[in-house]
Amino acid sequence: MTQTDAGGADAFVRFDHVQKSYDGETLVVKDLNLAIAKGEFLTMLGPSGSGKTTCLMMLAGFETATHGDIKLDGRPINNIPPHKRGIGMVFQNYALFPHMTVAENLSFPLEVRGLGKSEREQKVKRALDMVQMGAFGGRRPAQLSGGQQQRIALARALVFEPELVLMDEPLGALDKQLREHMQFEITRLAHELGITTVYVTHDQTEALTMSDNIAVFDDGRIQQLAPPAKLYEEPENSFVAQFIGENNTLLGTVKEIKGEIAIVQLDDGELIDAKPVNVSKPGERTRVSIRPERVEYNKARLQQGVHTLKAEVLEFIYMGDIFRTRLRVAGNDDFVVKTRNAPDQIRLEPGSQIEIGWLPQDCRALDA
Ligand SMILES: Nc1ncnc2c1ncn2[C@@H]1O[C@H](COP(=O)(O)OP(=O)(O)OP(=O)(O)O)[C@@H](O)[C@H]1O
Ligand SMILES: [Mg+2]
Repeated sequence: MTQTDAGGADAFVRFDHVQKSYDGETLVVKDLNLAIAKGEFLTMLGPSGSGKTTCLMMLAGFETATHGDIKLDGRPINNIPPHKRGIGMVFQNYALFPHMTVAENLSFPLEVRGLGKSEREQKVKRALDMVQMGAFGGRRPAQLSGGQQQRIALARALVFEPELVLMDEPLGALDKQLREHMQFEITRLAHELGITTVYVTHDQTEALTMSDNIAVFDDGRIQQLAPPAKLYEEPENSFVAQFIGENNTLLGTVKEIKGEIAIVQLDDGELIDAKPVNVSKPGERTRVSIRPERVEYNKARLQQGVHTLKAEVLEFIYMGDIFRTRLRVAGNDDFVVKTRNAPDQIRLEPGSQIEIGWLPQDCRALDA
């Protein structure tokens, strides 16, 4: 799913200049523009308080936008009665019906839609099996653990095969193994049934592995909207570079920009090559950003003529599949290099002095 698919007039979900204030003073959503295509799996990723749940609540119709429009399948959401919205929702706090058993919780959305008894039973069973809760149909929510309640909430949102599912941190209470299993099940099901999904998480690995597109939220705005690989490899600003994946940064000043290459003078005086991303002229302050796996210390692999930097090895950590080496580079003691554990890979010794470099396109000159 590409961004342009959803960018057209046929977007299934569209936020158009949406703003939200709860108190009439501060905007918690400042200017939200987002188009989601039918069948797309979109994740909202961002720090606590950045407005993710608020956006889901507006889309579900539990909160109204202070300004702007939200459209579902081309129609303003306000004009569609809740029961006709076809939206399944998993809330951050589960919100199961406490007086109903698990099976009744799941059966309820099917009853509302007029499904017969045998069809309901069959769908409830399938949904419970999906979340590995087949044996718990007769219990009430209060008799379940937090993770089990979360799985029931997930099953209830999917049981009626809605066109649109909104999920707010649906896997937060689960252990790593179950979480990974559910990540796989949710994406498989969503794609199989052609469900459009808006998914909220803090967990960037979860966002990267599950999504067609990720919207990175901060300060009530989308900082970048892109497919996982583009977001990781081509962050458009320092916030996104820092928030997604591990990242090394060095502060400096732009010396010169020659087409696709910016020469940056680091604060300790050394020069490096970077790709100018959101810097445009000499004299500007910049924070250059380079991923740990794109740093090279094997000179044979560096391009001729690129600037290299002196580095001191501070720590070498053997992690099995990779080596993680911590360096001091231009005054930064937390500069990390990750290398694959290959038979011919050099294992760096703490205390040794080395030179590092990178392809200029892997090092991004961003806002300081
Ligand atoms: N009902 C409410 N009344 C007043 N302020 C609210 C309300 N709900 C949320 N807020 C405020 O709006 C901002 C955004 O909250 P929101 O719940 O959307 O964040 P979030 O991105 O979902 O955070 P988290 O990751 O912690 O769940 C926060 O500053 C929060 O305190
Ligand atoms: Mg939230």
